Amino acid sequence: MNILQVSAEIFPLLKTGGLADIAGALPAALKAQGCDVRVVLPGFASILTDLETPTVLAQINAPWGDLVVVRYGRLGTLNVFAYVIDVPHLYHRNGTPYEDEHRQPHGDNHRRFALLGWVAAQLAHGLDLYWQPQLVHSHDWHAGLTCAYMAFLPHQGQRIANVFTVHNLSYQGIFPPSYFFDLGLPLEAFHVHGLEFHGQLSFMKAGLFYADHITTVSPTYAREIQTSVQGCGLDGLLRTRSGELSGILNAVDNTVWDPAHDPHISFHYDVHKPFDKALCKAEFQKESGLALQADALMFGIVSRLTEQKGLYLVLSVLDTILSRGGQLVVLGTGEAWLEAAFRERASMYPKAVSARIGYDEANAHRIFAATDVTLVPSRFEPCGLTQMYGLKYGSLPLVHRVGGLADTVVDSSLEDLANGTANGFVFDEFTMQSLDRAICRAFALYARRYEWRRVSECAMSQNLGWEHAAIQYKALYQRLCT
Ligand code: ADP
Ligand code: GLC
Repeated sequence: MNILQVSAEIFPLLKTGGLADIAGALPAALKAQGCDVRVVLPGFASILTDLETPTVLAQINAPWGDLVVVRYGRLGTLNVFAYVIDVPHLYHRNGTPYEDEHRQPHGDNHRRFALLGWVAAQLAHGLDLYWQPQLVHSHDWHAGLTCAYMAFLPHQGQRIANVFTVHNLSYQGIFPPSYFFDLGLPLEAFHVHGLEFHGQLSFMKAGLFYADHITTVSPTYAREIQTSVQGCGLDGLLRTRSGELSGILNAVDNTVWDPAHDPHISFHYDVHKPFDKALCKAEFQKESGLALQADALMFGIVSRLTEQKGLYLVLSVLDTILSRGGQLVVLGTGEAWLEAAFRERASMYPKAVSARIGYDEANAHRIFAATDVTLVPSRFEPCGLTQMYGLKYGSLPLVHRVGGLADTVVDSSLEDLANGTANGFVFDEFTMQSLDRAICRAFALYARRYEWRRVSECAMSQNLGWEHAAIQYKALYQRLCT
């Protein structure tokens, strides 16, 4: 079965968050299920550089006139065939793929990402004479127009099916209505039954409206986004599409995240021989200037520092962590006030708090290996990957009961300790008090070393690999193609 994957990011070539991890792992996972997966990507420099033996597949004009070169080749790092949209003036920029160095969205983002959907639709409709997808799978708002273009662009032959995956409904790709005329879509698309959203354009809504099927990245989030609390104004549409909406839980790429083989960490361990995790902790304490204390309960955060992640709650429970002899390690980048707040705490308590502001893949691995607890107190969380990395590395996740966090973490309550299913800590109310109690629960369990070891064993031995999710995606694709 031929599948075309459409995304703006792909690990390890370009990553701002979990979307890249999923886009990077899914092709191999689907390949293991017998699918022939190719990807289409914007021509960011790191992606073009990785493209081996590229050939020019087509030179075509974008709806607004720009000359677009579509290159075809093999992404060497990922061993995946790729179509790359090479338009240097659109993609060769400073900053992130979405924002400039002053953290402002690029003024022509509607063009930069419309083109991704537009080229994907051309490929669906036969741009490559030697390979045509049977199904197109696009991810998040950046690729949302794929489904709209597939609905409207003329094509011959059989209609190609599509799936749209929501990784985070709160980033919607909203643009002023006048930009519609750049897109090359018929006027009927600018409609409440289309991509119009409160008088604006919404790329996310285009995906939700025109896709044959919508998935999101956990079963709980699939339910949550159909409520007004988490629906970001799109819950009405999502409820009307509930028959074509499902949650498939993300997974962990075991070739990247495995404490037994991880090249980023100095000491390797696994559930059967966990002892060297203590060496990772000691090394990290030494390197980051923390007190060299084996029994200090060490909490870790690896995260975008945004409102979604609920990290301001952590600031208000820091006293509880410190007064009980704990340590806090933060790696993140994002909102300036949160960056400043964590920096300030690190300078106030250099022996107990370490904060690195920035993006550092290797350091992220070292933090999961060093810490005892991974904190993910998100206000909402479509899936969340860091709690799963925490599970794998024996850094017990402490999470708010929402979205994918609720689907992956089982609280260390007495009954779940007794039946051997507890793998972390979960709090219900998104309040400082509720988080504080969960932190206290973590300290209480840490004091009972035998039970802590049992919970760690449960966490580390969970099967979080891609096979199950890939089987579910393939079954969905097959259903849509028949
Ligand atoms: P989201 O996609 O909402 O940011 P996820 O938990 O799904 O949240 O994925 C976050 C991914 O980004 C994980 O792979 C995590 O390790 C990584 N990450 C986040 N912040 C940083 C950082 N500052 N440095 C390195 N990796 C980071
Ligand atoms: C988004 C979500 C996160 C999810 C990731 C990968 O960025 O915020 O919860 O894990 O996508 O699907």
